Amino acid sequence: MEKYILIIGACGQIGTELTLTLRERYGNDRVIASDIREGSDNLMNSGPFEILDATNYDALEEVVAYHDITEVYLMAAMLSATAEKFPMRAWNLNMNSLFNVLNLAKEKKINKVFWPSSIAVFGPNTPKVNTPQNTIMEPSTVYGISKQSGERWCEYYYNKFGVDVRSIRYPGLISWKTMPGGGTTDYAVEIYHKALSQGHYTCFLKKDTSLPMMFMDDAIKATLQLMEADTENIKVRSAYNLAAMSFNPEEIAKSIQQHIPDFKMAYEPDFRQAIADSWPKSIDDADAQKDWNWQPDFDLERTTATMLENLKV
Ligand SMILES: NC(=O)c1ccc[n+]([C@@H]2O[C@H](COP(=O)([O-])OP(=O)(O)OC[C@H]3O[C@@H](n4cnc5c(N)ncnc54)[C@H](O)[C@@H]3O)[C@@H](O)[C@H]2O)c1
Repeated sequence: MEKYILIIGACGQIGTELTLTLRERYGNDRVIASDIREGSDNLMNSGPFEILDATNYDALEEVVAYHDITEVYLMAAMLSATAEKFPMRAWNLNMNSLFNVLNLAKEKKINKVFWPSSIAVFGPNTPKVNTPQNTIMEPSTVYGISKQSGERWCEYYYNKFGVDVRSIRYPGLISWKTMPGGGTTDYAVEIYHKALSQGHYTCFLKKDTSLPMMFMDDAIKATLQLMEADTENIKVRSAYNLAAMSFNPEEIAKSIQQHIPDFKMAYEPDFRQAIADSWPKSIDDADAQKDWNWQPDFDLERTTATMLENLKV
C-alpha cells in the first residue's frame, strides 16, 4: 500500500525538520504538512500544506480523506513552560488532538500514528540518574500530566483496538532551523543565537541544572527508525526512553567558549527552574537500543560545532 503522510503541527521546531526529511525520503507530494499557521518558506514551498486545527475532528477527517492519508505524525502541542501559564488550554490541545488522531486510527481511517511524549512524564519522585524505562512517574507539571496521560491512552488504544501508535520520550531538543516553542530546555538553543549576536547570555536555569538533551538530527533519525521498525520489534506501546547526552548550563557555556573564548554567561533562574528540577538528569534508553537499534550521533561538542557553524551569518 502506498504511504501518504500527514504531519500536524508541521511548522514547529520538530515538525519543520521532520517534514523536510520525510519529503526527501518519500517524495514531496506524499508528505502533507499542516498547522494552524504558515511556516518557513522551505516548508511551505517544498510540498502540499493545509491549515488545520488538530482539535477539530471533522476538519482532520476531511484532510485525511482528501489526501488518502495512511500515517499521521501529531506534533501539535502546548509545551512545558507555556502550559504552566495556560493549564486548561494545554490540557485541551494536548489531549483532544491525541484523541482525534487515535480515534481516526481506531476507525481504520489511518493505519499508523506517531505521537511524541517527553521526559516531562517523570516527576520529583523519579530516580534522577539513568532514569529507567519503567519507574515512578508522578509528573508535577501541566505538560507532564498531559504527556503521561497521553502515554496511557496510546497503550490502551494499542491493547484494546490494535492501533499501531508509536512514541518516544524526547529529551530537550537543540536545532538551528526553527526556534523552540516554549519549553524548559529552550535555553540550550537561545544560548547559541546570543553567543553569536551578543557574546553573552543570561540563562533562566541555574548553572548546575543537568538535563537530558539531543541534537535535532538524532531526534529525527530516531523518529524515522521507530516508525520504520517491524511491528513485532515494538515492545513498548506507551513511549520509549531515548537519550543522547546530558549537560548543565555551565557545561554548554564551556563548550561554546572553545569556539568563542570571550563568551560570557550569567544566571537569572525563573519559574522554569522548578520545572527543570522535577525532571531527570539522564535517561536509560536500553529498550530503544535493543528493540530498534537506537544509537545517537551527536554529543555536546559536535552539537556546539554544528550549531555555531550553521547560525553564523
Ligand atoms: N522541542 C522539544 O524539545 C520537545 C521535547 C519533548 C517533546 N516534544 C514534543 O514534540 C512535539 C512537537 O514539539 P515542538 O518543539 O516542535 O513544538 P512547537 O511549539 O515548536 O510546535 C508545535 C506546532 O503546533 C502548532 N499548533 C498549535 N496548536 C495547534 C492546533 N490546534 N492545531 C494544529 N497545530 C497546532 C503550532 O503552531 C506549532 O507550529 C510536541 O508534542 C512536544 O510536546 C518536544
